[in-house]
Amino acid sequence: MSAPSFEDLLNRPTLAWMGQNTTHLEPPAAVVDAMTASVASREFQLYAPPLGFTRLRELILEDLGLPDADAWVTDGAVGGLYHVCTVLAPEISQLITSDPGWPWPARFVGLGDKPVTVLDVYEQPGAKLSAAQIAEVIEPRSLIYLIDPLNPLGSLYSRDELEAIVALARETESYIVHDCTYRHFAEGHSLVAELYPERTFTTYSFSKWLGLAGLRLGAVVAAPELLARLTAVPSNPLGAPIQAQRAAIAGLEGRGEWLEMLRGVNRRNIGAVEDVVARTGFGAVVVSPSQANFLAVDVSATGLHSEDVCARMLEHDVFVRPGTYQSPHFGERFVKISTSVPEEWVDRFCEAWTAIADGVAR
Ligand SMILES: Cc1ncc(COP(=O)(O)O)c(C=O)c1O
Repeated sequence: MSAPSFEDLLNRPTLAWMGQNTTHLEPPAAVVDAMTASVASREFQLYAPPLGFTRLRELILEDLGLPDADAWVTDGAVGGLYHVCTVLAPEISQLITSDPGWPWPARFVGLGDKPVTVLDVYEQPGAKLSAAQIAEVIEPRSLIYLIDPLNPLGSLYSRDELEAIVALARETESYIVHDCTYRHFAEGHSLVAELYPERTFTTYSFSKWLGLAGLRLGAVVAAPELLARLTAVPSNPLGAPIQAQRAAIAGLEGRGEWLEMLRGVNRRNIGAVEDVVARTGFGAVVVSPSQANFLAVDVSATGLHSEDVCARMLEHDVFVRPGTYQSPHFGERFVKISTSVPEEWVDRFCEAWTAIADGVAR
């Protein structure tokens, strides 16, 4: 079964976008105003500073609470991840990642012909990587790619768990990439950079919490000497999108109120999806409560393949994603549902889920 193309989906104006972990709420007025002002003053005719506007870099560090670090503004978090992986590839022994996970960093180090060790976490306690699993495979100069909260399951690492992983990294002089794309949705997120600043790269995104996915803006944050290794030859020396940076500055300046509203809507929506799954008995939530703006539902007991469930949802104009994109080993067992979206979309999701459950039961 082939996945629908995003371009085709863009031509469906009534589609409920619940498959990309993006945010689809009314954006903060100050963010829209900043973009409008940027267009009106024709800033798009200019290049931005190579590492990003100073104000934006300061705000990112403030938001993370890492005053001694440095920030490089990238073309989405993925632009930063690409550069981290390709710069480090010659000196690392392997990349360690999880299944399920997010596939791109493994592919990026693969360009440098480096091996990738994939650890299964779907059935592990807490559905996340453990230090014990990593200890079995770690070698000197590994690169541990830690997604936290974990896309696609929504599991969160505690500070103790991170400390145990850091101890292994320190012993083996390994690097850690702490992918914090979904940090803003979590309750009580801890930063590896606070425990192991000497070899940790933290990646940051504006796509999810601020809803700027199409503007392509993110950052890599690290100790100044470490970051300097990347920024000596950055992948975007002419600067990340200028209008996006203006929007991000406005978003960070008003983040308190926005995050409170966003988290409230997200929590309500996660609850609604959990309720409909429980009520219909169609599937089972994998990690509850998810600490991200999505949750995974295991559909293996329904008799349907995850791609089949998604295709049926799309007939109801609701886009959700099969696990196959992010999990070669378990992907046919689960679907992922994004929840930082209008409540009305979630209501439609619930109706569609119920209809599919009824159809299968009949
Ligand atoms: C774990 C993870 N890292 C990075 C990204 C990329 O984020 P950005 O849109 O900032 O490039 C995504 C996007 O889905 C993601 O899920």
